[in-house]
Amino acid sequence: MIVLDQENKVFTLHTQNTTYQMKADHNRVLLHTYYGPRIRGGDLSRLIQYADRGFSPNPSEAGDNRTYSLDTLPQEYSSCGVGDFRLPSIEFEPEDGSRLADLRCTGYELKKGKYSLPGLPAFFGGEEWETLVIHLIDSTCKVSLKLYYGVLERCDLITRAVQVVNHGSRPVQLRRCASLCLDFQRGDMDFITFNGCHAQERNLDRAPLRQGVQSVESVRGTSSHHHNPFVILCEHGADEDYGACYGAMLVYSGNFLAAAERTQLENNRLLLGINPYHFCWTLAPGAGFTAPEAALVCSPQGFGQMSRQFHRAIRENLIHDPCRGKRRPVLINNWEATEFRFDADKLVGIARAAAPLGIELFVMDDGWFGCRDSDRSGLGDWSVNEEKLPGGLGALVPKIENLGMSFGLWIEPEMVSEDSALYRAHPDWALQAPNRPFARGRSQLVLDFSRKEVRDHVYGSIKQVLASADIAYVKWDMNRSLTDVWSSALPADRQGELFHRFVLGVYDILERMRRDFPHILIEGCCGGGGRFDAGMLYYTPQIWCSDNTDAIDRLAIQYGTSFCYPVSAMGAHVSAVPNQQTGRCVPMETRGVVAMAGTFGYEMDLNHTTPEEKETIKRQVAFFKEHYELIQRGDYYRLADPFRDPFTAWEQVSPDRREALVSLVSHSNHAAAPFRTIRLKGLDPDAQYRVNGEEVWPGDVLMAAGWPMPMPAGDYRSMQLYLRAE
Ligand code: GLA
Repeated sequence: MIVLDQENKVFTLHTQNTTYQMKADHNRVLLHTYYGPRIRGGDLSRLIQYADRGFSPNPSEAGDNRTYSLDTLPQEYSSCGVGDFRLPSIEFEPEDGSRLADLRCTGYELKKGKYSLPGLPAFFGGEEWETLVIHLIDSTCKVSLKLYYGVLERCDLITRAVQVVNHGSRPVQLRRCASLCLDFQRGDMDFITFNGCHAQERNLDRAPLRQGVQSVESVRGTSSHHHNPFVILCEHGADEDYGACYGAMLVYSGNFLAAAERTQLENNRLLLGINPYHFCWTLAPGAGFTAPEAALVCSPQGFGQMSRQFHRAIRENLIHDPCRGKRRPVLINNWEATEFRFDADKLVGIARAAAPLGIELFVMDDGWFGCRDSDRSGLGDWSVNEEKLPGGLGALVPKIENLGMSFGLWIEPEMVSEDSALYRAHPDWALQAPNRPFARGRSQLVLDFSRKEVRDHVYGSIKQVLASADIAYVKWDMNRSLTDVWSSALPADRQGELFHRFVLGVYDILERMRRDFPHILIEGCCGGGGRFDAGMLYYTPQIWCSDNTDAIDRLAIQYGTSFCYPVSAMGAHVSAVPNQQTGRCVPMETRGVVAMAGTFGYEMDLNHTTPEEKETIKRQVAFFKEHYELIQRGDYYRLADPFRDPFTAWEQVSPDRREALVSLVSHSNHAAAPFRTIRLKGLDPDAQYRVNGEEVWPGDVLMAAGWPMPMPAGDYRSMQLYLRAE
């Protein structure tokens, strides 16, 4: 609910459990007055303290009043160069070279429903949303801003976006435009970020904020394996169930900056948006720029509640899921089984072994097109290699379908190999600067997706393939970071637009594909989880979580990912042992339990498994299908921390609390280990739950006292408890 106090210019956004407030003060400066647990309202600018602080200047309207300074007031969207020395939200430069932005409020609009952003992914939904738009202007430069706020009460979700328009008669260079600025009138907070590298994504890092700026960012052109555009600020003591925490997510797949600043007054500012690195957007007279959407969830009761609210909102109001209301298929992918060494018989052989086990979708990974016999050639030539697959997809797909399975394939549209017909015909279509050697990544180059003719060509050839057979699924991959970011299609003074234009180009093709093939389930991928962000999730309902398929490493990766993203978004497969990335041998049962904390599938040649393993797989697949709703759409609780505890455990609870599934994986067994109980969460305290069809336990006992947990002896053992209320 959005409440306007017109007289005092106070804007209050209420969600189910939280309240967010701002106020345009007597100088029309938009102040941030509150964000936290839900309160009745009122004008919370009374919390703001005014005092003269040395070296904190006073705007001209303040006259002789030295207690009024932009530098000390909590700002809703910080200005630049006019008295607030903390992180600026916006920077622009008119022709006179001044980089000053003094933002004052000129009005607002209130609308039913959710705003949308042209060309950009954003949360969607109907009348349950409300939108507030606040108008700001820098009247000297005649640059106006619209701050958008979307409120989805039931999920405690507040979305934000910013549109900038140049109303002047001369061009202005926009150099920074954050999607979100959030000032806290407190400083005793921790900053939590999700970091790593290829094959080790989204490991959680938590540290108290120190004075100054701490930040994570990407300058790689993608959101990156290295830092995720999702961060948390929380009270020092916050944990899964206690303490206020604030999650902030950017709905964007390119360079980003998430910066937290602890200031001279020991309060904090959080800034999230497109990275100002190599960003400069020319606003011609009358032209505008839209910054990507950011989304906030505040949980007064710890991380668990924050995650569940993000999961719900992402599942229901961000992802365009062709399988909405249905079950997504259990898949088998041939990559780890064959890499590039396959032909039609080999693929059909893998599918033939999978079908009787209940696996429903066969995914042909990299290597099916052009001269793609290794990762050094072929990218860009999206036509079937008939030497490997005689008769093309027209011959292969029916063979898979005859086994009762549907068919999916791998593509990597943004890339080109030098050894390809496409590169030979259009070398200038790859990103590279004149007279300068360029860098290769995985021996390949990046196509200039800012150019429409490049996108049209690539999409045209992919569309032909997708239309040529019955394709149910596409894995959209992207296997290198951007370098040599220069486009022959842009003038020198607009090269700073290229990183963002590249991302807009990717979104354009994803949108076309979604429109032309609405039934195709797209799985995002970027060397695993290098572009695991809410921007991609808008188009690709699931994203391959990591190239690391080792079940034990995956515990930490999936744990970190779960802080923001739902189980149904995390691509996870059972692969062969010894694991290709770590050499570790984890029992088949445990590999299944871990993959079931994601979308669930297999990535191995099942012809090389024992009859016992096949039986295990059959059971796993049947169990997953039977409990699909609970696993994929249940409320998710983290019960143990893979970084701290000798085991990892998580739980899904059905919304009506009649069913729950607890999964446990032990990763560090010792002799004479202490006895352990595990306390469950989210159950109905008054219900009696039958556990694995055997003993009955009361909900309150399981939550308050716990369940005695036998640690099975042996390496990397696991167990699952299925609870059903009697
Ligand atoms: C990336 C993906 C893998 C696989 C290969 C194919 O590394 O993350 O899953 O598709 O590319 O080349």
